[in-house]
Amino acid sequence: MAENSRHKAKIAVFISGAGTNMAALLFASRLPDAAFEIVLVASNVRDAGGLALARLEGIETFAHPHKGMTREDHDAVMESAAQQAGAEFIVLAGYMRILSDAFVNRWQGRMLNIHPSLLPKYKGLDTFARAIAAGDSHAGSSVHIVTPELDAGEVLAQSVVAIAPDDTPETLGERVKLAEHQLYPRAVNEYVSRGFDPAFLLGRIRKLALGLPETHERESHGSPGFRVGSEKSGKFFAHFSDQHHGTPHIAVLVKTSSMDELLSLVETQPEVYFKPAYYGASGWIGLILNRPGVDWDHVGEWLERSWRAVAPKRLTRMMDIEDEF
Ligand code: GRF
Repeated sequence: MAENSRHKAKIAVFISGAGTNMAALLFASRLPDAAFEIVLVASNVRDAGGLALARLEGIETFAHPHKGMTREDHDAVMESAAQQAGAEFIVLAGYMRILSDAFVNRWQGRMLNIHPSLLPKYKGLDTFARAIAAGDSHAGSSVHIVTPELDAGEVLAQSVVAIAPDDTPETLGERVKLAEHQLYPRAVNEYVSRGFDPAFLLGRIRKLALGLPETHERESHGSPGFRVGSEKSGKFFAHFSDQHHGTPHIAVLVKTSSMDELLSLVETQPEVYFKPAYYGASGWIGLILNRPGVDWDHVGEWLERSWRAVAPKRLTRMMDIEDEF
């Protein structure tokens, strides 16, 4: 993807142990077409094996033991190291700490973990022993988005590994790691690329736009558009634009209230907004989606606002009343 060759997602990897998954990520990040680079390997364990490997490979490292610190304070130290390194994503790879909710919430959607079970089975510890004891035919590993509830965020990818009759947790664990080393780099690569993939971005816009009352999708000048009102007399409140007319932007076009507002937004936040060809003349602004750190709540607010600007009175009146409560 063209955008990816320009922007590699910056990731910080947090480890507590051997760091073999970190190593798999690191070597994958150096292959052609990798969509991410590791800007920091950080640990709560000073002599974690993976730190030496990362240093040897010229990667910045950071270690800060958690002993004697509150969870919040230790999280803050780790977070600030990630921020200083310019990380856009935090990737947990055998980081044996439960994170505070506030930290997780600040990074929600930008923090991934790998867990050695086929989630939702066997959250928490001793996953291999539990799978063997249950007589399962297969174990495996899952990459998931980190949410405040432990090992419960959306699963992005899984590897399935057969359990042998004579497996011990150790022998099974070794084979699962081999699978993890294939799985994690691929899942991270795919996840960080999402934000530059027009199909993924359109999917998100579609979900938000069609989540508003009485909306439908209608093509306009060859691009997906979203209308409110009846199929017959509905009005457009959003257009999806994929690198049109020579712009590098994948964007959603929404209605501003005036040309003044449009121009001032474009001038003050050129990394977020642009004035689209043709549409710009009638007050549509381009909200850029193929950039790091898109705030999807903000995109949702713009869609709602644009919807309100053209929706029939009988619909907006209901919303105005709801707003009062
Ligand atoms: C992996 O098995 C991973 O699933 C779990 O911790 C282990 C880390 O191993 N979360 P390593 O340090 O990457 O070798």
